[in-house]
Amino acid sequence: MNVIEAINTRATVREFSDEKIKENDLKTILEAAIRAPNAGGNEQWFFIIVESKEKLEKLRNLIIQAQRLYYTEMMKTPLSKEQLEKWEERVKEGLYKAPLYIAAFKDLRVRYYKNSEIEERWAEQSVCAAIENMILVAHSLNIGSCWFGVPLLMEDKFYEFFNVKKEELKLVAIIAFGYPKQKPIPKKRKKKIEDVTIRI
Ligand SMILES: Cc1cc2nc3c(=O)[nH]c(=O)nc-3n(C[C@H](O)[C@H](O)[C@H](O)COP(=O)(O)O)c2cc1C
Repeated sequence: MNVIEAINTRATVREFSDEKIKENDLKTILEAAIRAPNAGGNEQWFFIIVESKEKLEKLRNLIIQAQRLYYTEMMKTPLSKEQLEKWEERVKEGLYKAPLYIAAFKDLRVRYYKNSEIEERWAEQSVCAAIENMILVAHSLNIGSCWFGVPLLMEDKFYEFFNVKKEELKLVAIIAFGYPKQKPIPKKRKKKIEDVTIRI
């Protein structure tokens, strides 16, 4: 699969089979992460790979809590009671249950610049580039993924879980990986190119 095909056929996957990710595929995914463009060539990223049964279960529960917070507290129009119940039902059926999660952090343990605020923004962009690389390469290996931003809604619980200091490793996102239960169907975009671009 070439890059254009990977981009055009990828879709977020939230229901996975129990099959473990092959070691070789994990290696390919991680290699793609660290091949991403990164600010200053400083590679200010760090990844925690969650794969043990006990940790997977705990992390999924935290993600569910964070997602619930998103639906009830973060959205300008929260989910209705019925929508929330429907979602809780899907959670019971195994939504977000993945054989592998990768938590992506900005690694701020070594600083390279005088302006630390800009440095952090650059590091964030580098980590996001790595995440997108992982997601696309995973898709090319028939591995589905879901990028989770909701952990930021209750960050401290995640720092506790990962046992890291937020001044050193700042969480950007957690990505679930696994073989999709159903073939992902790319989601139509609401905005056209003309809506989001100007030419000057
Ligand atoms: C920064 C970011 C944060 C996201 N956070 C979540 C999340 O917390 N939970 C979730 O289910 N999906 C999350 N997603 C996935 C989006 O919902 C998804 O990408 C979007 O609806 C477009 O669908 P597609 O990926 O299938 O094209 C996130 C995606 C991005 C880029």
